[in-house]
Amino acid sequence: MKSAIIGLGVIGKVHYEVLKAQGEEIVALCDTDFEKVREYEGIKKYFDYKNMLDNEEIDVVHVCTPHYLHAKMVIYALERNINVLCEKPLCISLDEMDEILAAEEKSKAKLGVCFQNRYNNSSIFAKDYLKDKKVEYAFGSVRWHRDRAYYESADWRGRWLTEGGGVLMNQAIHTLDLLVWILGEPKKVVGATFNRLLKGVIDVEDTACADYLGDNPFTLFATTSAPKDMPIELRFLTKNETIVVTPDSVKINGTPVDLESENKWYGKLSYGGGHAKLIKDFYDSVARGERFQIDGKEGAKAVRQVIATYISEGKVVDVR
Ligand SMILES: NC(=O)c1ccc[n+]([C@@H]2O[C@H](COP(=O)([O-])OP(=O)(O)OC[C@H]3O[C@@H](n4cnc5c(N)ncnc54)[C@H](O)[C@@H]3O)[C@@H](O)[C@H]2O)c1
Repeated sequence: MKSAIIGLGVIGKVHYEVLKAQGEEIVALCDTDFEKVREYEGIKKYFDYKNMLDNEEIDVVHVCTPHYLHAKMVIYALERNINVLCEKPLCISLDEMDEILAAEEKSKAKLGVCFQNRYNNSSIFAKDYLKDKKVEYAFGSVRWHRDRAYYESADWRGRWLTEGGGVLMNQAIHTLDLLVWILGEPKKVVGATFNRLLKGVIDVEDTACADYLGDNPFTLFATTSAPKDMPIELRFLTKNETIVVTPDSVKINGTPVDLESENKWYGKLSYGGGHAKLIKDFYDSVARGERFQIDGKEGAKAVRQVIATYISEGKVVDVR
Protein backbone atom coordinates (compact mmCIF):
# COMPACT_ATOMS: atom_id res chain seq x y z
CA MET A 1 0.00 0.00 0.00
CA LYS A 2 1.05 3.60 -0.56
CA SER A 3 0.68 5.45 2.73
CA ALA A 4 0.83 9.06 3.86
CA ILE A 5 0.68 10.66 7.29
CA ILE A 6 -0.71 14.07 8.28
CA GLY A 7 0.80 15.27 11.57
CA LEU A 8 4.19 13.94 12.64
CA GLY A 9 3.96 14.81 16.32
CA VAL A 10 3.93 12.36 19.22
CA ILE A 11 1.54 9.80 17.69
CA GLY A 12 2.36 10.44 14.02
CA LYS A 13 5.82 9.04 14.79
CA VAL A 14 4.24 5.86 16.16
CA HIS A 15 2.22 5.43 12.95
CA TYR A 16 5.39 6.03 10.92
CA GLU A 17 7.36 3.38 12.86
CA VAL A 18 4.55 0.82 12.57
CA LEU A 19 4.20 1.39 8.81
CA LYS A 20 7.95 1.04 8.34
CA ALA A 21 8.01 -2.17 10.39
CA GLN A 22 5.07 -3.57 8.41
CA GLY A 23 6.76 -2.82 5.08
CA GLU A 24 4.23 -0.31 3.74
CA GLU A 25 5.50 2.30 1.30
CA ILE A 26 5.30 5.77 2.87
CA VAL A 27 5.04 8.12 -0.10
CA ALA A 28 4.40 11.47 1.61
CA LEU A 29 4.31 13.23 4.95
CA CYS A 30 2.53 16.45 5.85
CA ASP A 31 3.05 18.81 8.76
CA THR A 32 2.70 22.57 9.11
CA ASP A 33 5.82 22.55 11.30
CA PHE A 34 8.85 21.66 9.16
CA GLU A 35 10.88 20.69 12.25
CA LYS A 36 8.52 17.72 12.72
CA VAL A 37 9.27 16.23 9.30
CA ARG A 38 12.88 17.32 8.77
CA GLU A 39 14.33 14.01 10.02
CA TYR A 40 12.45 11.85 7.47
CA GLU A 41 14.80 11.83 4.53
CA GLY A 42 13.86 10.60 1.08
CA ILE A 43 10.09 11.06 1.55
CA LYS A 44 8.11 13.84 -0.14
CA LYS A 45 7.00 16.50 2.35
CA TYR A 46 4.00 18.82 2.28
CA PHE A 47 2.82 21.74 4.42
CA ASP A 48 -0.73 21.55 3.09
CA TYR A 49 -2.69 18.28 3.39
CA LYS A 50 -5.01 19.21 0.51
CA ASN A 51 -2.02 19.63 -1.78
CA MET A 52 -0.68 16.27 -0.68
CA LEU A 53 -3.99 14.43 -1.15
CA ASP A 54 -4.58 16.10 -4.54
CA ASN A 55 -1.11 15.41 -5.93
CA GLU A 56 0.01 12.04 -4.60
CA GLU A 57 -1.29 8.57 -5.33
CA ILE A 58 -2.24 7.45 -1.84
CA ASP A 59 -4.03 4.27 -0.74
CA VAL A 60 -4.24 5.14 2.97
CA VAL A 61 -3.79 8.46 4.72
CA HIS A 62 -3.26 8.57 8.50
CA VAL A 63 -4.72 11.61 10.29
CA CYS A 64 -2.57 12.27 13.37
CA THR A 65 -3.29 15.95 13.93
CA PRO A 66 -4.96 17.86 16.80
CA HIS A 67 -8.62 17.01 17.45
CA TYR A 68 -10.21 20.07 15.83
CA LEU A 69 -8.65 19.19 12.44
CA HIS A 70 -9.82 15.58 12.24
CA ALA A 71 -13.26 16.18 10.71
CA LYS A 72 -12.17 18.35 7.81
CA MET A 73 -9.16 16.17 6.97
CA VAL A 74 -11.17 12.93 7.13
CA ILE A 75 -13.93 14.39 4.95
CA TYR A 76 -11.46 15.76 2.40
CA ALA A 77 -9.88 12.30 2.04
CA LEU A 78 -13.22 10.43 1.87
CA GLU A 79 -14.52 12.82 -0.81
CA ARG A 80 -11.50 11.82 -2.92
CA ASN A 81 -12.07 8.12 -2.21
CA ILE A 82 -8.83 7.87 -0.22
CA ASN A 83 -8.94 5.39 2.67
CA VAL A 84 -8.34 7.18 5.95
CA LEU A 85 -7.26 6.02 9.38
CA CYS A 86 -7.99 8.73 11.94
CA GLU A 87 -6.56 9.00 15.42
CA LYS A 88 -9.10 9.29 18.23
CA PRO A 89 -11.35 11.15 18.73
CA LEU A 90 -13.03 10.97 15.33
CA CYS A 91 -14.36 14.51 15.89
CA ILE A 92 -15.33 16.90 18.67
CA SER A 93 -18.91 17.91 17.88
CA LEU A 94 -22.15 16.24 16.80
CA ASP A 95 -22.32 18.43 13.69
CA GLU A 96 -18.88 17.24 12.61
CA MET A 97 -19.96 13.67 13.34
CA ASP A 98 -23.00 13.97 11.04
CA GLU A 99 -20.81 15.35 8.24
CA ILE A 100 -18.21 12.59 8.61
CA LEU A 101 -20.80 9.81 8.67
CA ALA A 102 -22.48 11.25 5.56
CA ALA A 103 -19.11 11.45 3.77
CA GLU A 104 -18.29 7.87 4.82
CA GLU A 105 -21.63 6.66 3.45
CA LYS A 106 -21.00 8.30 0.07
CA SER A 107 -17.32 7.41 -0.29
CA LYS A 108 -15.87 4.36 -1.99
CA ALA A 109 -13.04 4.52 0.54
CA LYS A 110 -12.90 3.03 4.06
CA LEU A 111 -12.68 4.98 7.30
CA GLY A 112 -11.01 3.62 10.43
CA VAL A 113 -10.66 5.08 13.93
CA CYS A 114 -7.67 4.38 16.12
CA PHE A 115 -9.09 2.81 19.28
CA GLN A 116 -6.12 0.48 19.59
CA ASN A 117 -6.97 -0.72 23.11
CA ARG A 118 -9.64 -2.96 21.58
CA TYR A 119 -6.70 -5.03 20.30
CA ASN A 120 -5.17 -5.66 23.76
CA ASN A 121 -5.33 -9.37 24.55
CA SER A 122 -7.00 -8.49 27.86
CA SER A 123 -9.75 -6.49 26.07
CA ILE A 124 -10.35 -9.28 23.55
CA PHE A 125 -10.58 -11.82 26.37
CA ALA A 126 -13.04 -9.67 28.36
CA LYS A 127 -15.28 -9.03 25.34
CA ASP A 128 -15.45 -12.74 24.57
CA TYR A 129 -15.77 -13.91 28.20
CA LEU A 130 -18.66 -11.55 28.92
CA LYS A 131 -20.58 -11.98 25.67
CA ASP A 132 -23.20 -14.38 27.08
CA LYS A 133 -23.09 -13.22 30.71
CA LYS A 134 -25.31 -10.71 32.45
CA VAL A 135 -23.11 -7.91 33.74
CA GLU A 136 -24.91 -6.43 36.73
CA TYR A 137 -22.58 -3.47 37.15
CA ALA A 138 -19.33 -2.25 35.65
CA PHE A 139 -16.80 0.40 36.54
CA GLY A 140 -13.91 1.98 34.64
CA SER A 141 -11.16 4.12 36.11
CA VAL A 142 -8.45 6.22 34.50
CA ARG A 143 -5.93 7.78 36.88
CA TRP A 144 -3.15 9.46 34.96
CA HIS A 145 -0.82 12.39 35.45
CA ARG A 146 -0.71 15.19 32.87
CA ASP A 147 1.06 18.29 34.14
CA ARG A 148 1.58 21.87 32.96
CA ALA A 149 4.54 20.80 30.78
CA TYR A 150 2.34 18.30 28.92
CA TYR A 151 -0.32 20.90 28.21
CA GLU A 152 2.26 23.50 27.21
CA SER A 153 3.95 21.07 24.78
CA ALA A 154 1.44 22.00 22.05
CA ASP A 155 -0.93 24.96 21.95
CA TRP A 156 -4.01 22.93 20.95
CA ARG A 157 -3.93 20.95 24.21
CA GLY A 158 -6.19 21.98 27.07
CA ARG A 159 -8.51 24.22 24.99
CA TRP A 160 -12.19 23.61 24.24
CA LEU A 161 -11.91 24.94 20.71
CA THR A 162 -8.98 22.77 19.67
CA GLU A 163 -9.04 19.73 21.97
CA GLY A 164 -12.84 19.65 22.35
CA GLY A 165 -12.60 18.58 26.00
CA GLY A 166 -10.10 17.33 28.53
CA VAL A 167 -9.61 13.96 30.19
CA LEU A 168 -12.86 12.57 28.76
CA MET A 169 -12.37 13.63 25.14
CA ASN A 170 -8.67 12.85 25.06
CA GLN A 171 -7.51 10.18 27.52
CA ALA A 172 -10.56 8.38 28.96
CA ILE A 173 -12.28 8.08 25.58
CA HIS A 174 -10.35 4.82 25.10
CA THR A 175 -11.83 3.39 28.31
CA LEU A 176 -15.30 4.63 27.45
CA ASP A 177 -14.91 3.02 24.04
CA LEU A 178 -14.00 -0.34 25.63
CA LEU A 179 -16.97 -0.19 28.00
CA VAL A 180 -19.34 0.66 25.15
CA TRP A 181 -17.80 -2.05 22.95
CA ILE A 182 -18.19 -4.71 25.65
CA LEU A 183 -21.49 -3.63 27.21
CA GLY A 184 -23.37 -1.80 24.44
CA GLU A 185 -24.32 1.84 24.06
CA PRO A 186 -25.85 3.55 27.11
CA LYS A 187 -28.95 5.59 26.35
CA LYS A 188 -28.61 8.17 29.12
CA VAL A 189 -25.85 9.68 31.21
CA VAL A 190 -25.53 11.71 34.37
CA GLY A 191 -22.09 13.13 35.02
CA ALA A 192 -19.98 15.99 36.29
CA THR A 193 -16.62 17.34 35.21
CA PHE A 194 -14.23 19.83 36.77
CA ASN A 195 -10.70 21.16 36.68
CA ARG A 196 -8.91 20.13 39.87
CA LEU A 197 -5.20 20.66 39.33
CA LEU A 198 -4.58 22.99 36.42
CA LYS A 199 -6.90 25.97 36.87
CA GLY A 200 -5.58 28.87 34.81
CA VAL A 201 -3.42 26.52 32.71
CA ILE A 202 -6.16 24.64 30.83
CA ASP A 203 -9.78 25.53 30.26
CA VAL A 204 -11.00 21.92 29.84
CA GLU A 205 -11.70 19.42 32.64
CA ASP A 206 -8.99 17.28 34.22
CA THR A 207 -11.46 15.15 36.23
CA ALA A 208 -14.80 13.55 35.39
CA CYS A 209 -17.22 11.13 36.99
CA ALA A 210 -20.32 9.79 35.31
CA ASP A 211 -22.98 7.08 35.42
CA TYR A 212 -23.93 5.66 32.02
CA LEU A 213 -27.47 4.28 32.05
CA GLY A 214 -29.00 1.63 29.84
CA ASP A 215 -29.36 -2.15 29.69
CA ASN A 216 -25.85 -2.61 31.13
CA PRO A 217 -25.11 0.44 33.29
CA PHE A 218 -21.59 1.45 34.24
CA THR A 219 -19.68 4.18 36.06
CA LEU A 220 -16.54 5.93 34.85
CA PHE A 221 -14.08 7.90 36.94
CA ALA A 222 -11.30 9.63 35.05
CA THR A 223 -8.63 12.09 36.03
CA THR A 224 -5.33 13.40 34.72
CA SER A 225 -4.57 14.96 38.11
CA ALA A 226 -3.27 11.75 39.74
CA PRO A 227 0.28 11.97 41.14
CA LYS A 228 1.46 9.45 38.53
CA ASP A 229 0.07 7.20 35.79
CA MET A 230 -1.67 4.16 37.21
CA PRO A 231 -2.99 1.24 35.14
CA ILE A 232 -6.43 1.73 33.67
CA GLU A 233 -8.88 -0.64 35.25
CA LEU A 234 -12.22 -2.05 34.15
CA ARG A 235 -14.30 -3.99 36.66
CA PHE A 236 -17.28 -6.13 35.65
CA LEU A 237 -19.61 -7.67 38.23
CA THR A 238 -21.71 -10.67 37.26
CA LYS A 239 -23.86 -12.70 39.70
CA ASN A 240 -20.93 -14.73 41.01
CA GLU A 241 -17.82 -13.14 39.58
CA THR A 242 -15.75 -10.00 39.60
CA ILE A 243 -13.66 -9.63 36.45
CA VAL A 244 -10.87 -7.06 36.68
CA VAL A 245 -9.24 -6.02 33.40
CA THR A 246 -6.11 -3.89 32.97
CA PRO A 247 -4.28 -3.24 29.67
CA ASP A 248 -2.18 -6.38 30.22
CA SER A 249 -4.02 -8.57 32.70
CA VAL A 250 -7.35 -10.12 33.60
CA LYS A 251 -8.31 -11.54 36.99
CA ILE A 252 -11.49 -13.47 37.68
CA ASN A 253 -12.40 -13.52 41.40
CA GLY A 254 -8.74 -12.70 42.07
CA THR A 255 -7.28 -15.51 39.92
CA PRO A 256 -5.11 -14.30 36.99
CA VAL A 257 -6.05 -15.45 33.50
CA ASP A 258 -3.19 -16.77 31.38
CA LEU A 259 -2.96 -14.27 28.50
CA GLU A 260 -0.52 -14.26 25.63
CA SER A 261 1.88 -11.36 26.28
CA GLU A 262 1.80 -8.42 23.86
CA ASN A 263 4.53 -8.36 21.22
CA LYS A 264 6.14 -5.04 20.43
CA TRP A 265 4.81 -1.85 22.01
CA TYR A 266 5.24 1.46 20.19
CA GLY A 267 5.29 4.87 21.88
CA LYS A 268 4.37 5.45 25.52
CA LEU A 269 3.46 2.47 27.69
CA SER A 270 0.04 4.02 28.27
CA TYR A 271 -0.85 3.65 24.55
CA GLY A 272 -0.75 -0.14 24.96
CA GLY A 273 0.44 -2.57 22.32
CA GLY A 274 -2.51 -2.21 19.96
CA HIS A 275 -1.36 0.29 17.32
CA ALA A 276 0.51 -2.25 15.20
CA LYS A 277 -2.35 -4.76 15.33
CA LEU A 278 -4.98 -2.14 14.52
CA ILE A 279 -3.03 -0.66 11.61
CA LYS A 280 -2.43 -4.10 10.14
CA ASP A 281 -6.10 -4.99 10.53
CA PHE A 282 -7.15 -1.74 8.83
CA TYR A 283 -4.82 -2.37 5.88
CA ASP A 284 -6.13 -5.94 5.59
CA SER A 285 -9.73 -4.65 5.51
CA VAL A 286 -8.81 -2.11 2.81
CA ALA A 287 -7.07 -4.80 0.76
CA ARG A 288 -10.13 -7.05 1.01
CA GLY A 289 -12.47 -4.10 0.25
CA GLU A 290 -14.33 -4.79 3.50
CA ARG A 291 -15.66 -2.50 6.21
CA PHE A 292 -13.16 -2.01 9.04
CA GLN A 293 -14.47 -3.11 12.43
CA ILE A 294 -13.91 0.35 13.96
CA ASP A 295 -15.39 2.42 11.13
CA GLY A 296 -16.94 5.88 11.43
CA LYS A 297 -20.16 4.64 13.04
CA GLU A 298 -18.24 2.58 15.57
CA GLY A 299 -15.65 5.30 16.28
CA ALA A 300 -18.44 7.84 16.82
CA LYS A 301 -20.04 5.89 19.69
CA ALA A 302 -17.62 6.96 22.43
CA VAL A 303 -17.60 10.57 21.18
CA ARG A 304 -21.42 10.63 21.61
CA GLN A 305 -21.06 9.49 25.22
CA VAL A 306 -18.36 12.10 25.91
CA ILE A 307 -20.46 14.93 24.47
CA ALA A 308 -23.55 13.82 26.43
CA THR A 309 -21.44 13.78 29.62
CA TYR A 310 -20.37 17.39 28.99
CA ILE A 311 -23.99 18.41 28.45
CA SER A 312 -25.16 16.60 31.59
CA GLU A 313 -23.69 18.84 34.33
CA GLY A 314 -25.31 16.73 37.02
CA LYS A 315 -28.63 16.06 35.26
CA VAL A 316 -29.73 12.86 33.50
CA VAL A 317 -29.56 13.53 29.74
CA ASP A 318 -30.18 11.45 26.62
CA VAL A 319 -27.22 10.33 24.54
CA ARG A 320 -27.87 11.48 20.98
N1 LIG B 1 -4.33 6.39 20.19
C1 LIG B 1 -3.55 6.90 21.14
O1 LIG B 1 -3.22 6.23 22.13
C2 LIG B 1 -3.06 8.30 21.02
C3 LIG B 1 -1.94 8.71 21.76
C4 LIG B 1 -1.49 10.04 21.60
C5 LIG B 1 -2.19 10.91 20.75
N2 LIG B 1 -3.30 10.47 20.09
C6 LIG B 1 -4.07 11.37 19.22
O2 LIG B 1 -3.27 11.75 18.11
C7 LIG B 1 -3.56 13.07 17.71
C8 LIG B 1 -2.28 13.91 17.74
O3 LIG B 1 -1.79 13.93 19.07
P1 LIG B 1 -0.23 14.19 19.35
O4 LIG B 1 -0.04 13.95 20.80
O5 LIG B 1 0.60 13.45 18.37
O6 LIG B 1 -0.17 15.76 19.05
P2 LIG B 1 1.13 16.61 18.61
O7 LIG B 1 0.80 18.02 18.91
O8 LIG B 1 2.35 16.01 19.21
O9 LIG B 1 1.19 16.36 17.04
C9 LIG B 1 0.29 16.96 16.14
C10 LIG B 1 1.06 17.28 14.86
O10 LIG B 1 0.14 17.81 13.89
C11 LIG B 1 0.78 18.89 13.22
N3 LIG B 1 -0.24 19.77 12.64
C12 LIG B 1 -1.00 20.70 13.25
N4 LIG B 1 -1.82 21.30 12.36
C13 LIG B 1 -1.57 20.72 11.16
C14 LIG B 1 -2.10 20.89 9.85
N5 LIG B 1 -3.06 21.79 9.58
N6 LIG B 1 -1.60 20.13 8.83
C15 LIG B 1 -0.62 19.22 9.08
N7 LIG B 1 -0.08 19.00 10.30
C16 LIG B 1 -0.56 19.74 11.33
C17 LIG B 1 1.59 19.56 14.34
O11 LIG B 1 2.61 20.41 13.81
C18 LIG B 1 2.14 18.34 15.07
O12 LIG B 1 3.37 17.91 14.53
C19 LIG B 1 -4.64 13.54 18.67
O13 LIG B 1 -5.88 13.30 18.09
C20 LIG B 1 -4.46 12.67 19.88
O14 LIG B 1 -5.63 12.53 20.67
C21 LIG B 1 -3.72 9.19 20.19
